[in-house]
Amino acid sequence: MSKSIKLFSTFIITSLFIGLVQSENIKQINIPDNVIEYKIDSVMKLMTLEEKIGQLNQLSSSETTGPEIAKSNNMDYVRKGLCGSMLNVVGVEVTRKAQEIAVNESRLHIPLLFGYDVIHGFKTIFPIPLAESASWDLYLIEKSARIAAIESSASGLHWTFAPMVDIARDARWGRIMEGAGEDVYLGSLIAAARVRGFQGNLSDETNILACAKHYVAYGAVESGRDYNTVDISKRTLYETYLPPFKAAVDAGVSSFMSAFNDINGVPASGNEFTLRQILKHDWNFKGFVVSDWGSVGELINHGVAKDRKAAARIGLNAGVDMEMCSLTYVEELSKLVNEGAVKEELIDDACRRILRFKFKLGLFDNPYKYCNIEREKASIFTTEHIEATLQMARKSIVLLKNDKQILPLNINTKKVAVIGPIADVKPEMIGQWAAKGDEDKAITILEGLKNRFSNSTKFIYAKGCNINDDDKSMFNEAIKAAQKANVVILALGEGKLMSGENTSRSDISLPGVQLELAKAIIRTGKPVVVVLTNGRPLALKWLAENASCIVEGWILGTQAGNALADVIVGNVNPSAKLTVSFPQVTGQVPIYYNYKNTGRPYDPKLQWVTRYIDVSNNPSFPFGYGLSYTTFLYSDIRLSSSKLSLNGEITATVDVKNTGQKEGEEIVQLYIHDILAQVTRPVKELKDFKKINLKPGETKSVSFTINPSELRYYDSNMNFVAEPGDFKLFIGTNSVDLKETLFTLE
Ligand code: NOJ
Repeated sequence: MSKSIKLFSTFIITSLFIGLVQSENIKQINIPDNVIEYKIDSVMKLMTLEEKIGQLNQLSSSETTGPEIAKSNNMDYVRKGLCGSMLNVVGVEVTRKAQEIAVNESRLHIPLLFGYDVIHGFKTIFPIPLAESASWDLYLIEKSARIAAIESSASGLHWTFAPMVDIARDARWGRIMEGAGEDVYLGSLIAAARVRGFQGNLSDETNILACAKHYVAYGAVESGRDYNTVDISKRTLYETYLPPFKAAVDAGVSSFMSAFNDINGVPASGNEFTLRQILKHDWNFKGFVVSDWGSVGELINHGVAKDRKAAARIGLNAGVDMEMCSLTYVEELSKLVNEGAVKEELIDDACRRILRFKFKLGLFDNPYKYCNIEREKASIFTTEHIEATLQMARKSIVLLKNDKQILPLNINTKKVAVIGPIADVKPEMIGQWAAKGDEDKAITILEGLKNRFSNSTKFIYAKGCNINDDDKSMFNEAIKAAQKANVVILALGEGKLMSGENTSRSDISLPGVQLELAKAIIRTGKPVVVVLTNGRPLALKWLAENASCIVEGWILGTQAGNALADVIVGNVNPSAKLTVSFPQVTGQVPIYYNYKNTGRPYDPKLQWVTRYIDVSNNPSFPFGYGLSYTTFLYSDIRLSSSKLSLNGEITATVDVKNTGQKEGEEIVQLYIHDILAQVTRPVKELKDFKKINLKPGETKSVSFTINPSELRYYDSNMNFVAEPGDFKLFIGTNSVDLKETLFTLE
């Protein structure tokens, strides 16, 4: 029996309740909440103020995911009980070693919590979250998070810093890849699905804590530049940026991460209004808040803390429970308590929140619960996980254009030219935020095509150019390759280091000379299939107008090449739809489907309206858009009644017919517009959707129930209410091509 277990046996008995003292082999049993609170009381009675503050301190291993903060003596903090959690410590062997130090050498033997950025898979890499969101498939998204939890928990991890639930309307911001796009409704459903997938009910060793980040409004950074200022109205905060976080709370998320940005002048990691008032008070959140990397220390750079002591005071008072990496808490908080600048109850509360999850995970009963070397070997890259990422990747691919029905290609095509700087590069398939993803296991686009075409097909590969420089010396070889082939697959896009944290771009078109390469290849007159790899929407004006066929392949993970090839040869009929608008040119961002009408609504034929002089207001590809190899015909909308009473509901129905030759899936979308309100309302808002499968010639009726709660909005006094009046209701295949009707809320 380990020391910690002995200790707990002792105090469990003296604390007059029956504890669940377990050996390493006994599985966790769900402990009732009141028992956990008793246990926390018992532990906290034994703790000094310094040890409580120690629980609020999180340190990184030498593998860093932020500005290096040199700490070679991490383990001294652990030994002294001055560290409650570590990040970037990964793998059974190393987590066990660190855990042994905590439980055997610290005075109270309190186990550590190990956190890591498990964003889209751990070893088996799934599509980036933005890609997954395009599936609109909550079941598969939850499963993707579940598998990430199974693999990472088997490697000693207790906690992922995911899901990122920031709404993003500005694609210059590189972190758009990590979220679910621009829509609040879909983003909220996806936030909840991912929390469920990671956490389960936290009762067994394959569950990990989730972390809703980055709280809040990080996606609204000015100019799309990472870490930048956020100046945002209370209305936009409540309508657009808070709801996915609330959805995460409702789904039981264990932790939140406070963001780097400021919000209307108050940094998010020192923001009492968003943290204490909204999150902990209004939403009654019982989990804990960890700061983003160093963001408490950065209160000094923001200019709201004069020194590290002030930073610690502001962070803790605002409601940041655990400080990631800047160490101001562990250095300053006890002085601040002694001086009366910080109340000890607040430290107790923060410590209690963290211990609560150590208990819930069962770490006090078995600190090595996640340290099973056999499980670590057996859980990774299983056939089931590979199959799941392949399925998720197939469902994430968006067919943007298919004029002349170039796709799907015949697998017996004689000669296929595969051209482009991304066509055959394994690391590009899994991206930069890929945890412990194994690049060597990734299937490139060229490899996937070879796997899916018949043996008689001859492939001619030419790189064409580099991802992001002005070297055109490889163009000729690529043009020759195209000329020799029956069809060209042109793999273009962003490099993996061009999206993710701190990868803002001022120009979101294809980097380097790729567009010029595309023009040269298209000029050969051969059928060209453009396959894009990117972590953000790209500004594709020329391609959108001139290429016949475009496949949006995002960053699809371990099975990227196979999934893309499945779509290209028609093993899979594409069904995904964009969850972000693709602008024509960068100057249009921020661009999103649920804009306001304005006093001078856009009309391309009129002059004195809201518009640009050099480009239309429309995106190249709108929110909700994506093609299939078949076609769907929508009937007009039938309403069960055009009057909705305040405590009633109505049903809206359309018939959708598959009018093409192939079986296919369609995402049927419902939008609503509040015509007259106390404040301006978006031209439409997604309120529901259904994914249906139709055989050729088949028709299905799709019904949606509308009730007044879906019509609520923040009125001029910021009350969340449904107001009587007329509403437009739209149903259709994307946010632009819609059937329309009217109803009245009485
Ligand atoms: C900074 C990032 O903003 C955050 O998302 C991440 O979880 C932390 N670093 C830890 O790596």
